[in-house]
Amino acid sequence: MVTQEKETLIQNIQQKFTELFHADPLLVSSPGRINLIGEHTDYNNGYVLPAAIDKVTVVAIQERMDEEIHLYSFDLNANAVMSLTTELKPAEDWSDYVLGVVQQFIQQKLPLKGFNLVFGGNVPLGAGMSSSAALECAVAFALNEVFQLSLDTMQMVKLAQKAENEFVGVNCGIMDQFASMFGKKNRVLKLDCSSLEYESVPFEMDEFRIVLLDTNVKHSLGSSEYNVRRSQCEEGLQLLNQAFPSITNLRDVSLDQLDQILLPKSSVFYNRCRYVMEENNRLLKACNELHQNNMRAFGELMFGSHAGLSQRYEVSCPELDFLVEQVKPMSDVYGARMMGGGFGGCTINLVKTDAVAGLIETVGNAYHQHTGTTMQAYIVQIGDGTSLL
Ligand code: GLA
Repeated sequence: MVTQEKETLIQNIQQKFTELFHADPLLVSSPGRINLIGEHTDYNNGYVLPAAIDKVTVVAIQERMDEEIHLYSFDLNANAVMSLTTELKPAEDWSDYVLGVVQQFIQQKLPLKGFNLVFGGNVPLGAGMSSSAALECAVAFALNEVFQLSLDTMQMVKLAQKAENEFVGVNCGIMDQFASMFGKKNRVLKLDCSSLEYESVPFEMDEFRIVLLDTNVKHSLGSSEYNVRRSQCEEGLQLLNQAFPSITNLRDVSLDQLDQILLPKSSVFYNRCRYVMEENNRLLKACNELHQNNMRAFGELMFGSHAGLSQRYEVSCPELDFLVEQVKPMSDVYGARMMGGGFGGCTINLVKTDAVAGLIETVGNAYHQHTGTTMQAYIVQIGDGTSLL
């Protein structure tokens, strides 16, 4: 079902395109994502359990007869023009998410020509719902369609991820782009980030809702600490592998091995690697609970995930911890934890449907009183992945 909000969004983008370029464009919609459990596990070749949401970026595109690229951001009312004949360089603004993908296509020697592109969307920016992956995936999908390149979905996911790694400069894992492209309505995706095999698991929301509570803070530590966590895990794994050559993935490590090898060497490496090992185990348990429709137990594992992210992985912040602590004693909240990279953004909460409004009001008031900042709340539905409109 296309909601009124999405309908208006599509119309706005289409109209703007026609106004600017006097033509009827091809339209692509690509969603943001949530992640139920399995955080900071993707770049550790572990498991994640994301889903696409009903908030999307819409791209309107049309091929040009020359080598020029004309871009327009509807939400920022900003434009950019460049040419395929000169080297593309990051401008450190919104255009990087588009040009990063273009650059990947060029590197892969995929035949491109110039194009006109307008985009806009309702994925909140900077709230941890992967608005950047939504745009990258929309662009990859749109270029593939317009220039009839016959890429398969996983190839487009990888190109979009590499755009983020190499052009935008964020060394992220594959989860966000994967979820945005492969999302399925009312299903969560259990992805093995090592083999890239995945299973889509039904996630019915009759009795409860997924509520995102946005701290409205973004601590500047975020991106630098993200890369620090990555290398701490890599170094920890290397030490384990030197002692036990059969260990090539943190999800296969035992607590005994961690205690024996990492604890005497570095409490930081120990805590990081222990978190990753435990989070992978929690995710596997959570999937079993989901198959049995045991949402209480599923929610408990979410609380466990938050504790690990906060204490062992140290990517939470006081505002996120406060939001999770507030809902913990509430019997109508099955589970809650910080979501995404951390250091700000949202918590994800599983909440009994009829308790949602009361929860948002109570927690919102407490948050404002405690921090002086206004909390934002989003009730999200699980939607389909990137598609042609
Ligand atoms: C960000 C990254 C993802 C993933 C999460 C943490 O969203 O883009 O690849 O690492 O953080 O789970």
